[in-house]
This record gives sequence, C-alpha cells and structure tokens, in this order.
Amino acid sequence: MVTEGPWRVREFHVGDLDAAVRLWDNPAVSSEAPAFGLSDLIAAVRSHEPAVVAVARGAHSEELVGTAVATVSGDRAWVMRISLAAAWRHRGIGSAMLGELERRLVAAGVHRIQCLLAGDSEIGALALEHAGYAARPGVVFYERLEPVHPGSAGVLGQLGGRMVRAGAWDQLGGMVKEKELIERRVILPLAQPRLAGRLGLVPPRAIVLFGPPGTGKTTFAKGVASRLGWPFVELFPSRLAGESPAGLAAALREAFALVAELDKVVVFIDEVEEIAGMRQPRTASAAQGVTNEMLKLIPPFREQDERLLICATNSVRALDSAFLRHGRFDYVIPVGPPDPAARAAIWDRYLAAVPHGDLDMTAIVEESRQRVHGSGRSPAPLSRYPAATVAGSARTRSTTADPAISGVSGSPSCLVNSSSVWPLRAA
Ligand SMILES: Nc1ncnc2c1ncn2[C@@H]1O[C@H](COP(=O)(O)OP(=O)(O)O)[C@@H](O)[C@H]1O
Ligand SMILES: [Mg+2]
Repeated sequence: MVTEGPWRVREFHVGDLDAAVRLWDNPAVSSEAPAFGLSDLIAAVRSHEPAVVAVARGAHSEELVGTAVATVSGDRAWVMRISLAAAWRHRGIGSAMLGELERRLVAAGVHRIQCLLAGDSEIGALALEHAGYAARPGVVFYERLEPVHPGSAGVLGQLGGRMVRAGAWDQLGGMVKEKELIERRVILPLAQPRLAGRLGLVPPRAIVLFGPPGTGKTTFAKGVASRLGWPFVELFPSRLAGESPAGLAAALREAFALVAELDKVVVFIDEVEEIAGMRQPRTASAAQGVTNEMLKLIPPFREQDERLLICATNSVRALDSAFLRHGRFDYVIPVGPPDPAARAAIWDRYLAAVPHGDLDMTAIVEESRQRVHGSGRSPAPLSRYPAATVAGSARTRSTTADPAISGVSGSPSCLVNSSSVWPLRAA
C-alpha cells in the first residue's frame, strides 16, 4: 500500500466497490456508525446515493484509501460512514472527502446533514468537527428490529395478521395461576428453546384454552404473541368460509399454506368447536370434512419451529375426540373464571373512558364475582384445573371437561350490559 505522495478525492465509481468493501469491513479504518452496516453501505452506493472516495497515486496504479458515503431523504442526509486507511490519517483527507460529499448533497437539495458515530470512533469525529458539525449531547440512539421479515409482510397482510403491542401480557390482571402456567410451559420453551431443552421442556406447537366466555382466552392468546414478539394471526372460521368458493375446508388449507411461509407466528382460532366440533357419526357432512381438514393440517404445522397454534373454546366437550387425541395438542389449559384482580382489571378497562369516581369498585368487583359464579351453577374451584391438567408431566394432554365450566352463565362481558345499578361508595 502507498503511504506517501499525492492523493485526490473523486466520485465513487462502481469499480471501487471491492476495495471499498475491504475498507468498510475493517473496523480499524472506519468511523463506526452504529446505524449503518456493510449491507446498508453496499445498497447505498449501488443505488447511486452520494459517495466519494480518496485515492492515492502509487508507482503503478491508484489505490483507494478512503470513502465517505451518504444517503438522502428529502432535504436531509445522513453521512453513513467515513472510512480512511490508518496510514493516511491526519492529512486532511477525511475533511476533504466530507467537503466533496457535502457539495454533492447540497446540489441534491439537502439542507441538514447528520452523522451518527459510535462513542469511541475518532476518525469521523475529527473530520466532522473540522468541518463545523455540532455534536448533539444527550442524544440516545434507539433501534428495534421488527420480527417480520420484509418478505413475510405481504403474507401477514393477506392473513390479516399484525404485531401485538408490547406489554399486552402485563396488562392481563390477576389470573396468576394461568399466567404462571403459560409462562412456564408455553412462553419460556418457545422464547428460549435452548434453555428449555436443558430443562427437558419441549416447546409446544399447539395448545387449547378453554373456559367460559369473557374470561380472557383471546386476551391471553394476544398476550402470548406479545411476550414472544411474534406476529399474531387470528383465523375466523365464519369469515374463511365465505372467502373460498370451495368452502371452509379449502379456505383453512389455503390459510395454513400462507402461515407456513411466515418465519414465526402465533395462530389463533377462537370458538374452534365451529371447526372441530363433534363429527356426526355416519354423516359425510360438510362439517365432517372441515373437522377432517383441521385434523390433517395440525401435524405439518407442528413440524415447523417458531410457531404456535392457540385454539380457544368455551367447552372442551364440544370438540371432536380425535382433535384432542395424542400428538395434536401439547396442553389443554383451563382459563378462568376471572379472579378478583382480573375482574378489577376488566372493570378498569371498561370504565377507563367513563367518569366513575363515585363508584365503589371493591363492591363492584365482589358483586361481579357473584354474577360470574352465580345462578347456582358455580364452577368447580379454579385450583383443580391447572394441577389436573399440566402438573406432573411436561407434555400433558388432559381433556378434562367440566360440565360446570361449559354451563356457566353470566360472563364478565355481560356485566357491562347489565342494567343493574352498581352500589355507590358509602358517603
Ligand atoms: N385478566 C384480565 N385482565 C384484564 N382484562 C381482561 C382480563 N380478562 C379479560 N379481560 C378483558 O375482558 C374482555 C373479554 O376478554 P376476552 O379475552 O375476549 O375473553 P374470551 O376470549 O375468553 O371470551 C376483553 O375486553 C379483555 O380485554
Ligand atoms: Mg374470545
């Protein structure tokens, strides 16, 4: 490499790319801007964003010793990276490249030029300071990588899927036992498969949540997606049936084919008994075809990593027994009825937009317990279910259905529609 003699700054040419990549790839010669990686730089010069190089004249040929690359957005530009071979520092080359780059940026209509440098990089900082750039103290750089691969975004859109906002899990009030169980058996093994492997936990691929309406099954499913940071896709049997002329079975098959294209996903099917209801013996009905289709779709779904199928139902008894047979679902988890903390959270949510300072919330939470448990058909104690369902083995497939559970009337979602006058706080 030449280290003496004349140098000049000129526009970046396509032929400079190999030498430039060698420079960019070497951390010692670059102002390490944390925001822009090698692939960003290559993409920028390929799409003819403003870029200049410094070349030194050797005995036989010119050698690339520095680069400065920018990217323009409206009247603003980012200097993505300033790189200079170590032997060529302190000669004003960095400032000269920056000056050339600025000329091109101004010609492109840029008014504000910005540059992000990693804290310990010295080379870009000197050039920037000499050129009159002001450092903005106290600026913190935040970054988030969306888990959805750009190629998957279209598929996700077709499925009506989305990312659930962070924190949805934490907004689930109460339901400590359910949360703990799902955290330990479902979220942990999926989020940290290696750790789970060491603990002998097998990541689940499909689970059933069952419990009376309004106990938070849908909310739990979204919460799981939010905790995992995976996109959430809800399949609506009634909607799917209308979408495909060949009917629900074909629409399900198409939806699962799209799901298979996603890197990671939580698929949720509410009221799954509509799909996997008990097949009528000896009737080759359309419903039976749908159940059979669903039964066929689960095993291939289970073969891919980083996906979870959550089915919700009000009553396990309404499900086809083949649906719950060995190998399809990892857990059947009872949810609800809501405990006092959960009821308080539900009320908070419903009353958030309504002035209610004079309501006695403790009395309302207690009163709503009587309604949930009321009508003389109180469900069996909550504590019976999680223990019976998952304790013991890491891969339980209990299909316990309690008649009391499936028969409960008076769901929390009914509470807001109730015409009762709630007790006011005592003066
Ligand atoms: N534990 C909880 N904490 C906070 N809100 C809850 C809780 N459980 C249910 N909700 C709220 O109650 C409503 C009904 O819950 P949902 O998840 O739709 O029940 P399900 O799917 O079991 O019918 C939703 O608005 C949900 O936000
Ligand atoms: Mg629901």
